[in-house]
Amino acid sequence: MEKIVELRNVSMFFRSRSGLLKSIVVKAVDGVSLYVGKAETLALVGESGSGKTTVAKLSLRLLKPTGGRIIFEGVDITYTPEKELRWFRRKAQAVFQDPYSSINPYMTIRQIVEEPLILHKVEGDKVGIVEEALEAVRLIPAEEYLDKYPHMHSGGQRQRVGIARALVLKPIYIAADEPVSMIDASSRAEILYLLRELQEKRGISFLYITHDMATARHFSDRIAVMHLGKIVEIAESNDIVNNPLHPYTQALIEAVPDPNPANRFRERKTVSGEPLNPANPPEGCRFHPRCPYVMDICRLNDPELKEIKKGHYVACHLY
Ligand SMILES: Nc1ncnc2c1ncn2[C@@H]1O[C@H](COP(=O)(O)OP(=O)(O)OP(=O)(O)O)[C@@H](O)[C@H]1O
Ligand code: SF4
Ligand SMILES: [Mg+2]
Repeated sequence: MEKIVELRNVSMFFRSRSGLLKSIVVKAVDGVSLYVGKAETLALVGESGSGKTTVAKLSLRLLKPTGGRIIFEGVDITYTPEKELRWFRRKAQAVFQDPYSSINPYMTIRQIVEEPLILHKVEGDKVGIVEEALEAVRLIPAEEYLDKYPHMHSGGQRQRVGIARALVLKPIYIAADEPVSMIDASSRAEILYLLRELQEKRGISFLYITHDMATARHFSDRIAVMHLGKIVEIAESNDIVNNPLHPYTQALIEAVPDPNPANRFRERKTVSGEPLNPANPPEGCRFHPRCPYVMDICRLNDPELKEIKKGHYVACHLY
């Protein structure tokens, strides 16, 4: 598969202050390798603090990594200065979690969606492009939305405006960071289907970030599971869901509510223990304090990500 965006052994260590003199290093992302293929959706799943947003920002070169390489359409952009990234800024877009915070309430929908066209000095019929984008996200008829303000609309509709804004420059890659987690449950599926449709019709590649295995399995081609700054498993979505290999992935899948009402109140294993602190990760396998299968070697050696079956990678000493 043609790779659109690729992270090669990328790390992002933040130095943050703890106390007056001491500073600590937070290994938010530690040696991550992944790619998003052409017209593919890769879901990145993990608990809060596992480093998902940091990976999204790195893939958009909103951060410069402390190690590794970022490749976009075969071009190494790891340290490319901002003024030489204009081509990339057009092709790679973001959709964020909170449509309130990413949308200025004093701008009309037209101004919001048009802004990237102005920033990138796109000539021609800008209103036409804006209307086309609004129609693509089902804000129809588009001209009725142009002069409205986002706060007049529901969370789901505001997120549609955010997606329309991400579309006007005809990107080939969109990183969507928990795009539906702030939206009421009834509109969530619609927004996810919309993203899926855009991916299929326009051949856009998506990085879909979520802590929710249930939406990941429905809306992605492959799933990467992240735990404390590392990818612990990556495979095709069906493979991961039907045959999870890593104990952490197994626990995430066990935590997904059963759609069968008869089983809804069944005892379920959840991921035991608190998510650990990336400023002070455990030695060896970072999951070992929470793992039901922990062995002696797990406390000493950090397992590498290995291909166990074709296209199915896991980092665990059980395999
Ligand atoms: N700019 C920063 N400075 C210091 N630490 C940071 C910075 N950005 C992120 N971190 C830390 O890096 C770790 C990973 O953060 P990140 O936001 O990527 O996680 P996440 O998986 O997106 O979590 P969530 O599900 O809560 O959004 C966290 O411990 C976070 O506190
Ligand atoms: S390496 Fe060991 S501790 Fe880590 S997930 Fe596998 S069995 Fe559990
Ligand atoms: Mg996040």
